[in-house]
Amino acid sequence: MAGESTRRTFLVAFLVCFVCSLLVSGSAIGLRAIQEREVLTIHYRNVLSVTGLLAPGVDVVELWHEVVDPRLVDLDTGEYSDAFDPATFDPRRAAADPALARPIPAQVDLAGIRTRTRIAPVYFIRQEGEVVQVVLPVHGRGLWSTLYGYISLAADLTTIAGFGFYEHAETPGLGGEIDNRQWLAQWPGKEAFDPEGQPRIEVIRGRVDAASPYARFQVDGISGATVTARGVTNLLHYWLGEDAFGPFLQRLRTEGFDD
Ligand SMILES: Cc1cc2nc3c(=O)[nH]c(=O)nc-3n(C[C@H](O)[C@H](O)[C@H](O)COP(=O)(O)O)c2cc1C
Repeated sequence: MAGESTRRTFLVAFLVCFVCSLLVSGSAIGLRAIQEREVLTIHYRNVLSVTGLLAPGVDVVELWHEVVDPRLVDLDTGEYSDAFDPATFDPRRAAADPALARPIPAQVDLAGIRTRTRIAPVYFIRQEGEVVQVVLPVHGRGLWSTLYGYISLAADLTTIAGFGFYEHAETPGLGGEIDNRQWLAQWPGKEAFDPEGQPRIEVIRGRVDAASPYARFQVDGISGATVTARGVTNLLHYWLGEDAFGPFLQRLRTEGFDD
């Protein structure tokens, strides 16, 4: 009797485990497509959120297919790249792949990221056939974390159309204020470059003096978060500069948007 009950206990335990493992693996496989779609939708929302086109109630996926033209760029040459599919290319994974990444010389590594991908995505925003904005991915060190975001430039490739971060781990209320809507609302209309084409936009300490001739390049500081704010300025100077999107933007300025 005792042997029979031990066997039964093991049999029941085995059956419970077996059925549970079927349920878990079945739902993981069944939900994969939904998860992948959700990841893509979040990516679409992150890019569109800096364009000013994402009004409440707008269908993100529909808007994406309506206005976004994603391309890949070889950062060293500034030319377009067909090496990968822009729809599925993951620049963060590429930056961790030694075959696709290259070290950033310390003297130009303003963003504090040490390596960058050779190929980067850019997102042309088209309305009625015309390019109205170009969205560029940017990232760099804050105080506690790497800040990941997008900057959108208007068609003149100098005026900022929008800016924001979609991932960081700065302190809420201090560095985390880089997500504050009021602070972000200052960015559209500011100028990213000086007349010589050098990155000039800057988060200053304190408030911008509207009467200053430099106000168009300046955004208010965030009190108690000078390190994060400096990180924002530095990462923008890196990604808009010579070692990153500079050659691509220069090529667009001289050749226009058509390939
Ligand atoms: C718990 C704690 C969290 C902090 N988080 C941040 C942060 O996220 N970003 C930041 O720049 N400074 C942060 N600071 C403040 C920095 O240590 C530093 O004092 C600050 O950047 C200087 O800015 P201020 O000159 O505007 O005071 C934090 C400080 C403490 C004690």
